[in-house]
Amino acid sequence: MPRRKIAAGNWKMNKNYDDALQLIRDISATNPPKEIHTVLAVPSIYLKNGVDMLMHIIGLDVAAQNCHQEPSGAYTGEISASMLSSISVPYVVIGHSERREYFHENSQQLASKVDVALSNGLQVIFCCGESLDIRKSGNHVPHVCKQIRESLFHLSDDQWSNVIIAYEPIWAIGTGETASPEQAQEMHQALRTMIANEKSSNIAENVSILYGGSVKPANAKDIFTGEDVDGALVGGASLNADGFKEIMDALARS
Ligand code: 13P
Repeated sequence: MPRRKIAAGNWKMNKNYDDALQLIRDISATNPPKEIHTVLAVPSIYLKNGVDMLMHIIGLDVAAQNCHQEPSGAYTGEISASMLSSISVPYVVIGHSERREYFHENSQQLASKVDVALSNGLQVIFCCGESLDIRKSGNHVPHVCKQIRESLFHLSDDQWSNVIIAYEPIWAIGTGETASPEQAQEMHQALRTMIANEKSSNIAENVSILYGGSVKPANAKDIFTGEDVDGALVGGASLNADGFKEIMDALARS
């Protein structure tokens, strides 16, 4: 799939049912721009509403925030990739830093999740990013390159066409502190260069790389100036329809 401009919202574990439905209605009322691709990663309990309302009525896409690495089985509380595709969910977020930290998901497990998601026809939004300590040590680029190598480099060229990368520095998530446009561009360019050198220039040119970490209406325009920044994965600011609309519009104009 060729590089696309993507505004993705990640609702995380927010919004009760009535509020979630209201947010969907509010987003619809903003008339989201058609020139970009918009994806909302809603809590799994609302995925069917997301498919029925966001996709079929509003024309936006829906993502799950996670799936299990096994195809099925005795994994109480988990959701499989095939369940997601059975209700027509097109995307799944894999490897978010909150999953890596709180649920101890490692690169090997994430590689298996990517495999099971792709083999069930899902598109993967694969997250990567460094902690503040790693950023301060100056090793952020090798660290994030390693995350990508370990979980994605076994994929074929065809499989890569269903992968989107989201670079989310952990120190910028939910902190109000955003990476500067230069810091985001530096990492996105480094990832694209590594993919070109070690996989293929075709994959590197076509993979969309999103930035995530305190993206807000006030900073979105600047973040999107980066040549290798193809969009955003937005947490907190995606919970407000007007704010998210400003981010979508900034991307559409970029
Ligand atoms: P915030 O936009 O709230 O910093 O969250 C970013 C994020 O983790 C999106 O997945």
